[in-house]
Amino acid sequence: MTDQRLILGQTIEFTGDPFEVPPAEAVRHQRHGAVLVEGGLIGAVGMADDLRATYPQAIVEDRGDALISPGFVDPHVHYPQTAMIASWGKRLIDWLNTYTFPEEMRFDDPAYAAEIAARYFDLTLANGTTTVSTFATSHPASVTAFFAEAKARGLRAYGGKTCMDRNAPDPLLDTVQSAYDDSKALLETWHGAGRLSYVITPRFSPTSTRDQLAALGALWAEYPDCLMQTHLAEQADEVAWVASLFPEARDYLDTYEAAGLLGAKGLYGHAIHLKSRERARLAEAGAALIHCPTSNTFIGSGLFDMGGLKAEGQRVGLATDTGGGSSFSMLRTMAAAYEIGQLSGTPLHPAQLWWLATAGSAEALGAGHQIGTLAKGIEADLIAVDLASTPAIAQSAARAEDIWQAIFPTIMMGDDRAIEAVWIAGEKRL
Ligand code: GUN
Ligand code: ZN
Repeated sequence: MTDQRLILGQTIEFTGDPFEVPPAEAVRHQRHGAVLVEGGLIGAVGMADDLRATYPQAIVEDRGDALISPGFVDPHVHYPQTAMIASWGKRLIDWLNTYTFPEEMRFDDPAYAAEIAARYFDLTLANGTTTVSTFATSHPASVTAFFAEAKARGLRAYGGKTCMDRNAPDPLLDTVQSAYDDSKALLETWHGAGRLSYVITPRFSPTSTRDQLAALGALWAEYPDCLMQTHLAEQADEVAWVASLFPEARDYLDTYEAAGLLGAKGLYGHAIHLKSRERARLAEAGAALIHCPTSNTFIGSGLFDMGGLKAEGQRVGLATDTGGGSSFSMLRTMAAAYEIGQLSGTPLHPAQLWWLATAGSAEALGAGHQIGTLAKGIEADLIAVDLASTPAIAQSAARAEDIWQAIFPTIMMGDDRAIEAVWIAGEKRL
């Protein structure tokens, strides 16, 4: 009995970063392509006829004209905000206090955490997202619920306990010591357990004291192969608040840097209102900036400078930031990134958008050797995308003269109806 399977469809393989080489050179497209899946991994990618001849015993699944792509990678989300997505609010701090913190308080109930974790993964899988990095709440049980659900589904997943010891409601506050102890215990339980990775998670400087940031910096120094995630320079009034809370800091990034929380395994969500010193230090450190475009428009945060940041060599990923973001769909998120690019004078090519949602975000997580591309040896987390999923998309895509013209209507107008099938480690899950 063979467990070899051939999935037939259109394939695109990224051979480089389409921000660094012209998109046409960064991508290999096969109109009649195939992906061989074996033992949970991609065994080969090529032309359908060639792979059928080489692997005559493989079971064939023909997806027709669908695009066979790596599953989407979403490197900045808040799974506990699933139920309150699209809550009307004014500005970030008001939105956090009015909707986010009250909802996060409900996660002191492990049964509620488990219910939302399951609901969250139902939604992300329906949208073709196969790996996320989440902020949980400050309750350790919210991390347990997330990882338990991810494990049951066989997902590669990242997450951590959100640490806060000030400027949030009492029931959500931890302390310097409990944040360190709870994070460490969760890290030791989950980090490297199968496909799971723990992420050290200070929410952001306004909700952590210097001592708490330093304790989490010390924890990161003890476990340097872990990722660290936080928020940075999302809104102008937040930046001003940080300046008043940390008068000694040179800028917002300095509040992390002084605590040992700047590094190549650091993920910095939003990164909109950056000063030149911060940009230089982020590039020097090789940190990853996570662009959250639907959130930045929804909460009115500002325009991420994709063109300038990529040109200066910053590492960038693309994320939904649910529930500050207004969608679970990485297609909708690519569309928002395109629109923000247009408003900032950087018209992003569809190849750049697709790369950001797959390989770019996988690289931001330091997982580019495991997920996010179609290549031999990469884990077989795959999606089949219908490029004609609605009448409006179908009639526009019908005029396409190349693959990117065929994909772009799905980027701009597509949603979960475009996701025909999802495989996790080679197993069909949708
Ligand atoms: N900054 C601190 N916490 C949050 C959050 O939950 N969402 C967003 N968008 N920004 C934040
Ligand atoms: Zn966030």
